[in-house]
Amino acid sequence: MSLVITRSRSLVLHAGETLLEGLERTGHVVEYQCRSGYCGSCRTRMLSGEVEYLSEPLAYVANGEVLPCCCVPVGTVSLDVGTERDYESDGGAYRTQSELI
Ligand code: FES
Repeated sequence: MSLVITRSRSLVLHAGETLLEGLERTGHVVEYQCRSGYCGSCRTRMLSGEVEYLSEPLAYVANGEVLPCCCVPVGTVSLDVGTERDYESDGGAYRTQSELI
């Protein structure tokens, strides 16, 4: 079982679901384009845990980052990602993923 902890929620990934698909299903805001590890648009900060890539991504991934479109958690992971409500409650202070790059 893969548990994902985010800014305000936790979720369990369904069988066969990527990390991105699980985040989308539960209302999280994650930018994406290729959904295959090429573009890096979905780059997300991982606060703790470990992921396994379904295939080796071509986009650069620094330590402490993941590409949720093409990976699954190994056990429990904690991500710095939130829902639209999380972003609104921050009064606009929280930046989108692309602004963090
Ligand atoms: S959406 Fe392109 S690398 Fe994830």
